[in-house]
Amino acid sequence: MTTSKDLQRALVEAGIDAPARWLDVVGSTNSEASEWAASGAPEFALVAAGQQLAGRGRLGRTWQSVPGGSLTFSFVLRPEMEPEAAGLLTLLAGAALAQAARLLTGLDLLCKWPNDLVIGEAKAGGILCESVIERGSLSHVVVGIGVNLHSPQEVPGAIGIGEGVDPMGLLSSFLIGFRDLYARAGSDFAPAVLDAWRRVSATLGRNVEAKLADGSGVLGRAFDVDERGALVLETAGGLTTLTSGEVVHLR
Ligand code: BTN
Repeated sequence: MTTSKDLQRALVEAGIDAPARWLDVVGSTNSEASEWAASGAPEFALVAAGQQLAGRGRLGRTWQSVPGGSLTFSFVLRPEMEPEAAGLLTLLAGAALAQAARLLTGLDLLCKWPNDLVIGEAKAGGILCESVIERGSLSHVVVGIGVNLHSPQEVPGAIGIGEGVDPMGLLSSFLIGFRDLYARAGSDFAPAVLDAWRRVSATLGRNVEAKLADGSGVLGRAFDVDERGALVLETAGGLTTLTSGEVVHLR
C-alpha cells in the first residue's frame, strides 16, 4: 500500500525538499494541489492518489483511470516565467514522463502535442497544467499527470504501460528528469526543454489536423515547437502557430 512516506522518498531521490500527501481516494489531485497552492504550498508540494472520483482532463474533459491501476499525481510550481511561456511546462512534463516510462518499460512511448503520452496512436497518459496569474504575473502552476498502468477498458483509445510497472519507481524517475530540466535557469531553459521534447515527439513531421478553440480545423504538417511551446504548422497558406487546442495525427 502506498503512503505519503513513499512519495516523500521519491522526492528525496530527486533531490527535492517538499511536502507530500497521499490520498487513497480524492476528487481530483489537481483540485487538491490547487487548494494547497492557494494556501501557500511550496514548490514541488506533491499530491498523489490511488483513485480519483472526478479526474479532470484538458479542454473540460474528464479523466478516468483504473482505481489502483494508474500513477495519478499533481504538484505545485512557482516558476519565474512569463505566463505566455507556461506551455513549456507541459512539454517539459511530457518529455520527462516519456523518458522515465521508456526507461522503465522499454516501450516506444512518445509525446503527442501538447499533452498526451502515446504508444502508437493509443493514449497511455495525459498532463493537465493549470496556471494562476495574479496582476499579470504567474503566481503558480499545478502540474497534473495521469499514467495508465492498467488499460482502462471503458475508455476508447486508451492503453496501459504495464500492470507490473512500479508506480513509485516511475514517479521517482520522472521527478529526477523533470527537476534536472526545470533547474536550467534563464535563456537555457526553453532550448533545453524543446530539445528534450523534440527527441520524444510523436507529432513533429506528421500531417495533422489542428482543432482550434473555436471549433474550426487547420490542415498542415507539424514543423516545430517554438520558444513558448506552441506548435508551428506548415500549411498551404504558410506557417501558422498553434498556442492551444489539440491535433489529430493524419495518415
Ligand atoms: C488530458 O489528457 O486531458 C489530461 C489528463 C490529466 C489527468 C491528470 S490525473 C492527475 C491530475 N488530476 C486531475 O484531475 N487531472 C490530472
